[in-house]
Amino acid sequence: MNVLLAGGAGYIGSHTCVELLEAGHSVVVADNYSNSCPEALRRVEEITGKTVRAYEADVCDSEAVERIFSENDIDAVIHFAGLKAVGESVEKPLLYYRNNIDSTLTLLEAMARHNVTRFIFSSSATVYGTPKEVPLVETMPTGTPTNPYGRTKLMMEQILTDTQYANPAMSIVILRYFNPIGAHKSGRIGEDPNGIPNNLMPFITQVAAGRLERLGIFGDDYPTRDGTGVRDYIHVVDLAKGHVKAIEYSEAHTGTEIINLGTGTGYSVLEIVKTFERVNHLTIPYVIKPRRAGDIAECFANAEKAEKVLGWKAELGLEEMCFDSWNWQSHNVNGYK
Ligand code: NAD
Ligand code: UD1
Repeated sequence: MNVLLAGGAGYIGSHTCVELLEAGHSVVVADNYSNSCPEALRRVEEITGKTVRAYEADVCDSEAVERIFSENDIDAVIHFAGLKAVGESVEKPLLYYRNNIDSTLTLLEAMARHNVTRFIFSSSATVYGTPKEVPLVETMPTGTPTNPYGRTKLMMEQILTDTQYANPAMSIVILRYFNPIGAHKSGRIGEDPNGIPNNLMPFITQVAAGRLERLGIFGDDYPTRDGTGVRDYIHVVDLAKGHVKAIEYSEAHTGTEIINLGTGTGYSVLEIVKTFERVNHLTIPYVIKPRRAGDIAECFANAEKAEKVLGWKAELGLEEMCFDSWNWQSHNVNGYK
């Protein structure tokens, strides 16, 4: 299959490129490199020994997207091309609404013109809002995300559902990711955030690399086993394999499916820090800070639907996630730069 990956040079996209190529598919990437760089794709080619057809393009630009569809025989689209920094989305809501929603509309319009009917979407567990209970099941009502980033995800889920309803020949697979961490085992591709990381694992690896002094743990008074926040961390390679399964599933599917991609197990911030220290023989200095606005105590998936529908299950454990995150960061102290 020939798969268009919008935002395919990013963290999850680059790992998905590798897994798709290794499963025998071909990939076309459209990325404006607003949060990534062409070097990531060069390394995908190095890992796989295969070619990535890449376009430097903003997928909100309908002429650029039209050109990509005209020049390639696209079978399916995976849409990773979003802005994802929660704090920035509060400060610049219009940027987030414009980029995240426009990119989705532009891709769907081009697909309609070219009769491409299969779309895989990067959603997030953030759409559940503040969970009343865990684990989170796809049939639970969505909540109220606490920020514009989360609201764009919820809106896009609705846009996609409406679009499929109007065109029953379409297959839409909405993947709700939990917390991706880790990196490809080669250590050649990984997460490379701009500026000071917002997310836990890149913050820890940058402390370990000496780029940051110490980790701040946002709250130790949550109603969890050690008082720190609990999340469902998933290895990015497992997540990428979930996309290969979703692409293959969509071939014989019509309708809209919403599927959690998580492991089903939650770990606390302190458990992550301790496991990272143990597997990598390092010490991570930390201080306890006040809770971060918008954070919830616990969030983890019921991962049964992915296994039942896609035949996919996360295989890599927390130790591998911590080892591979550090393997990437320690060999690329300044990321791709
Ligand atoms: P990322 O920033 O590394 O990748 C996104 C890619 O999209 C980048 O390469 C960026 O340059 C590109 N991009 C953004 N806007 C674009 C546009 N208009 N045109 C073309 N390219 C554009 O992020 P990621 O972690 O790989 O996340 C991928 C997707 O998964 C995003 O939609 C994100 O919201 C979603 N998601 C991520 C997480 C996470 O923890 N990483 C969790 C849940 C959902
Ligand atoms: C965050 C976003 C979520 C987004 C996801 C992926 C918020 C409120 N939520 O999820 O919308 O989909 O990233 O981009 O921003 N932590 C620390 N110190 C740090 C960083 C994090 O203690 O420096 C803690 C957090 O309080 C949390 C856990 O680590 O308990 C995980 O945090 P993070 O990696 O930011 O992910 P989420 O908050 O789950």
